[in-house]
Amino acid sequence: MTGKLKLARAAFAAVILVAASAGAVGTAQAKPPAPIVGGTAASTAQTPWAIALNNSGSPVPSGQWCGATLVKANKIVTAAHCMDEPRSTYTAIQGRDKLTNGGGKTSKISSIWVDPDYGAVPGHDVAVLTLTTPFTGIATLPLETSTAADKAGAQPTVYGWGDTFDDRIQNQFRKVVVPVLGDTYCGDVYASEGYVANGEICAGYKQGGKDSCQGDSGGPLVLNGRLFGIVSWGIGCAEAGHPGVYAEVATYSATLATEINS
Ligand code: ARG
Repeated sequence: MTGKLKLARAAFAAVILVAASAGAVGTAQAKPPAPIVGGTAASTAQTPWAIALNNSGSPVPSGQWCGATLVKANKIVTAAHCMDEPRSTYTAIQGRDKLTNGGGKTSKISSIWVDPDYGAVPGHDVAVLTLTTPFTGIATLPLETSTAADKAGAQPTVYGWGDTFDDRIQNQFRKVVVPVLGDTYCGDVYASEGYVANGEICAGYKQGGKDSCQGDSGGPLVLNGRLFGIVSWGIGCAEAGHPGVYAEVATYSATLATEINS
């Protein structure tokens, strides 16, 4: 699974580099598979716990790398696969709808906990980061603790600053509703990718068109006012038959709580 996730990020970077070297950024190009894809602009004033995790090595001009969620004044939850860069290269940003506009609060990262089973056991794409400068006074999002929440037909919303394929600059905060399709569906379409029912959530549209995408990883999938999932992986974005896969927070909630409260 690590290979697949890294490939997704590498493939994206390659598109940018090729486009940039051809001087083609901003001009008409072959459209990659449909693009947060199919969503609408969102406001961090309404979702103050949504955090942009930038990285100085990001291939996109905004510096965007991954998403995260504020779960305590000094703790954010993100995806394990987002954390393969040196600690000092990350910056957490709160309350900034358009990354290049500035504003909001920022913090560096003082420590990183990555689920020790990530990469060794399928799933486990979860990490907890400690902020150097706590985002004091900002609303936090509680974790979902019941695995029964992962039911086909539930209507969670995913948020992020990732790729829409309209601008390809990962700059504007967006959201989209992605219905839970259920473990049976992803177990089938992602059988060779190793989808795990116990630890992952399958959400999106069988026909494609709306999805999370590159740069959204680590960000929140929210249901009933709780952190239900974490953007993890998919094949392409918004492709028919290839919905998004999210880390199932309830599965890891006890471990996460221990890290959050440590
Ligand atoms: N791995 C991607 C990232 O690093 C997120 C992929 C989500 N893909 C999807 N089709 N929902 O940002």
